[in-house]
Amino acid sequence: MKIVVLVSGGGTNLQALMDAEKAGALHGGVIGAVISDRPGAYALERGGAAGIRTYIETPDKTLPRKDRRRDLSDRILRIAGKEGAGLIILAGFLSILEGDIITAYANRIINIHPSLLPKYGGQGMYGGQVHRAVLAAGEIESGCTVHLVDAGTDTGPALIQKKVPVLPGDTPESLAERIHGQEHAALVEAAALMVKRLMKQPISNRTTGF
Ligand code: GAR
Repeated sequence: MKIVVLVSGGGTNLQALMDAEKAGALHGGVIGAVISDRPGAYALERGGAAGIRTYIETPDKTLPRKDRRRDLSDRILRIAGKEGAGLIILAGFLSILEGDIITAYANRIINIHPSLLPKYGGQGMYGGQVHRAVLAAGEIESGCTVHLVDAGTDTGPALIQKKVPVLPGDTPESLAERIHGQEHAALVEAAALMVKRLMKQPISNRTTGF
């Protein structure tokens, strides 16, 4: 089961997936390629160092704003098809996917989000924004969610959630760090679950044929 991982940042979640693959914990899932929407993302170095093919696909700023997501999503769909991907994992990917990729890879795209969805999700809710909102609301717990990606933003069904306490004196940074510790395990668990689920399908359905 070929996996394409989408990234925008440091790539600690990608690293957890690569380590899990090496340890045989992805049940035969193989990371075939890493795609970043940011040229400087350290995740690209991690992928490259592990000998994984890397691609940089940035939003095309010459296009009208309304067409940018669709254009980027279509380019990612073409790469996923070329790579024979059966599963796409958003591991800290900050662009929003839309269009054909959502239907071509229905129930085959998962995303990790640093909150207990449906709380603190949606457009503009990423990284520090999420943790600032959690603290401002006086929540006593937070955590992370791995969910299937549908046409909405952070709205697809949850696969795995892990909780952490919000502690007195927490800052967005300290809370982010506590959650990050749980994200890696959650994403690996969800990826393994998806590989198992998808491998049960007939061989002809294991990639989308794009
Ligand atoms: C993670 O905290 C992930 O939950 C978040 O980006 C970070 C990436 O860390 N994703 C989102 O906010 C998506 N809305 P990493 O690059 O070290 O894996």
